[in-house]
Amino acid sequence: MKKLTAFILATMIVLSLAACGNEANMAGNTEPPQNGTEAPRTEAPADTNNENDAPGEPTDSAGEPDTPPEDVPSEPEQEPTGGKILVAYFSATNNTEGIAQKLSDGLGADLYEITPAEPYTDADLNYGDSKSRTSVEMDDPSARPEISGAVENMEQYDVVFIGYPIWWGEAPRIMSTFIESYDFSGKTLVAFCTSGSSGFGSSDSALRAAASGATWLDGHRFSAGASADDVMDWANGLGIS
Ligand SMILES: Cc1cc2nc3c(=O)[nH]c(=O)nc-3n(C[C@H](O)[C@H](O)[C@H](O)COP(=O)(O)O)c2cc1C
Repeated sequence: MKKLTAFILATMIVLSLAACGNEANMAGNTEPPQNGTEAPRTEAPADTNNENDAPGEPTDSAGEPDTPPEDVPSEPEQEPTGGKILVAYFSATNNTEGIAQKLSDGLGADLYEITPAEPYTDADLNYGDSKSRTSVEMDDPSARPEISGAVENMEQYDVVFIGYPIWWGEAPRIMSTFIESYDFSGKTLVAFCTSGSSGFGSSDSALRAAASGATWLDGHRFSAGASADDVMDWANGLGIS
């Protein structure tokens, strides 16, 4: 009888152990799904709380906006470090005038046109004629064509840009008339020119000699079609504005 009881107990223990092992096996099933479409998720979940945010709007992750600095002025000081600027130019056929306007617009400078008392006609500008007015003037280094009008209060300017067309590799004689009409001592002068193809060269040498008390910066030649960006790239590189 004892043996029978022991056998029945042993059988019951074996059966209950087998049942537990089966349950554990089902809970630990780590086999991937058979369809294989679920790749492991490596990206952060989409933030569905920000659906109403405007695209590109920065989110305030700290919850509090940064406090703006108190002493930042709303408008920058406009006065350039080089002081007040004048762009003075002579232009017989308007090429140099276009550059001068871009320069004065970009710098916020005053603009002054050097106007000949006797305007240049087409015949005067005929460089193919050795007897034309321009040919005669450029043959004579002492020629000083008269200017109509004058710059008001030249003293107020610290920097003067001086623009002209190249005539026979030089600044027209009327530019010498202009330079000799004022005292540029202590001012900063910068020449610029337009030409058919000639470079700037030494076209401002007579002007430099006539205003040797000024500080002369390197001049520049532009083509007639130079853009405002071309002009301002040069002007901004001069270190005066
Ligand atoms: C009398 C005269 C001489 C000139 N000499 C030259 C020259 O030596 N080299 C050059 O490249 N262009 C020369 N040119 C062309 C002018 O420099 C060019 O057309 C300039 O852009 C004209 O400027 P403006 O329209 O402001 O007068 C000359 C033009 C004239 C009328």
